[in-house]
Amino acid sequence: MITLALSKGRIFDDILPLLKAAGIEVLDDPEKSRKLILRTNQPDVRVVLVRATDVPTYVQYGGADMGVVGKDTLLESGTQGLYQPLDLQIAKCRISVAVRDGFDYSAAVRQGSRLKVATKYVAIARDFFAAKGVHVDLIKLYGSMELAPLTGLADAIVDLVSTGNTLKANHLVEVERIMDISSRLVVNQAALKLKQAPIRRIIDAMAKAVAA
Ligand code: PRP
Repeated sequence: MITLALSKGRIFDDILPLLKAAGIEVLDDPEKSRKLILRTNQPDVRVVLVRATDVPTYVQYGGADMGVVGKDTLLESGTQGLYQPLDLQIAKCRISVAVRDGFDYSAAVRQGSRLKVATKYVAIARDFFAAKGVHVDLIKLYGSMELAPLTGLADAIVDLVSTGNTLKANHLVEVERIMDISSRLVVNQAALKLKQAPIRRIIDAMAKAVAA
């Protein structure tokens, strides 16, 4: 049995065509059912639904053989014990710094004042501002980052930007692009040895579909 860990939402929707290219079709619809283990058309392949931030943990400790996870999540959680064979080029977005429209970010940085930055991506933000030599106080949030500059909780946020609609709707502007993000295939290293043939087959088929 091959167990694949996926999270609901964009990654799930975007991975379906790549799974199909590998001959795998998910038979249950996670939007219609409360099941956490989904069947596929392959009797020896199943999908488990976990929170995006839990995908690396499931794969690292063997709760799943493989998983699909954003580079943002991988950078935050670390990649110990994970083999990363493939950039799947799906769920593409970027991590950026954003501030309230009208906030003079470059002046704040130039003056060397301590910036209050709210984010779910504490490790990424810490590395980014440290490399720039900007002093920051990081405030860890778990969602709705956009509210932080609007309520005075923070001067800036570090968050995912895709279309930019969420920023615009909340009168925020993107002032720096930290990095591009896409989803990666991650594989448990022991599973790669023990189930080498079926896992290789899936990786190779997905790699071909990504290249096409
Ligand atoms: C992300 C991010 C922004 C939004 C950006 O949230 O935190 O809120 O998407 O997308 P846009 O630029 O297309 O508007 P997501 O929906 O992934 O949920 P989250 O709040 O759990 O991070």
